[in-house]
Amino acid sequence: MLLLLVTIISIPGFQAIPGDLPRECYNRTFADEFNVFDFFLSYEDTQLWLDALATENPEKCQLQKLEETYEGRNVSAIVINYNLPKKIIVIGNLQAREWVGMSSAVYIIHELILNAGNYPDANKFQWIIVPMPNPDGYEFSRVHDRKWNKNRSPQSNANFGVNLDGNFNNQWNVNGNPSRADPAGRVYRGPAPFSEPETRALRDLMHNHIDAVLLVDLQGFGQLILMPWSWTEEPAPNADRTRAIAIAGSAAIFEQTQQFFDVGIASDYFPFAYGVCHDYCNAIGVKTCLTLRQTMQEYEISTDQIILFGQEAFAAIHAMAEKSDLSNI
Ligand SMILES: *[C@@H]1O[C@H](CO)[C@@H](O)[C@H](O)[C@H]1NC(C)=O
Ligand SMILES: *[C@@H]1O[C@H](CO)[C@@H](O)[C@H](O)[C@H]1NC(C)=O
Repeated sequence: MLLLLVTIISIPGFQAIPGDLPRECYNRTFADEFNVFDFFLSYEDTQLWLDALATENPEKCQLQKLEETYEGRNVSAIVINYNLPKKIIVIGNLQAREWVGMSSAVYIIHELILNAGNYPDANKFQWIIVPMPNPDGYEFSRVHDRKWNKNRSPQSNANFGVNLDGNFNNQWNVNGNPSRADPAGRVYRGPAPFSEPETRALRDLMHNHIDAVLLVDLQGFGQLILMPWSWTEEPAPNADRTRAIAIAGSAAIFEQTQQFFDVGIASDYFPFAYGVCHDYCNAIGVKTCLTLRQTMQEYEISTDQIILFGQEAFAAIHAMAEKSDLSNI
């Protein structure tokens, strides 16, 4: 049984060296608490932890339930520095198996709240973070099938799940890959745009914070920062500006972890995709919408990489938010 679990970590100026993490620094916890960087949190762990953070730091953050999934789990956002006007939105693993999206979001939440003093500049923003946007799919990938990528809503012919990153109402109706229209397919787009509570949760969040300076969708695989659009090679109207911001993110990553992240239009790297989160975000007019694809080795990471990837994502997102805020193009 897990009790309250707020870890106390202080690593100012810590330089990440793979395989040489001073782990004793990370588990300075009370007896029955757990350390959020030691393992991939379950849905229950995450809810408990977020709830504890919000309860113990009411002046700093608020937990919001956005929607309830088919299996009755909450899609929750934690809003940090909720009184500040400049907003950053961070989305965790919409694709269930890309756990790094969740763990990096958890890292950022941890640092902003529990080590706030180390990040005065990042704490000039309001952060709206949805660490686990697909809790049913994530739990299924954690417990039953590591490769599971969709959510778990029942579909026709005894199939389950919709590819949430194809369910947004932007070019949703384009057929593309035949598997998009097949409820048994891995990239099934769903019976209608926004048919799923998880995507409705993010849609409403974006519309409620349309003034955000940046939205970052965290994904796995590729070491890339991708810009809209996913469905055409044509650059989005704001592509030059978005590219400059993405390059600032890539530079911040190089400085942090010496990893090289390529920057480009999503459709230059992957087959055309439709109904995609960052495309919808861009189409409705959020200032900058990007996808950060961490990891080189497919979608799996090990627990001893959680902190490194978290640091990488945090450095990139913060740098991109600063750049987006300052670029008045
Ligand atoms: C941290 O964990 C390590 C390995 O599990 C253990 O040896 C050490 O005593 C722990 N440190 C603290 C302060 O709990
Ligand atoms: C889901 O959200 C509701 C409303 O905020 C809350 O009462 C409930 O405890 C949450 N569920 C979990 C598992 O945290």
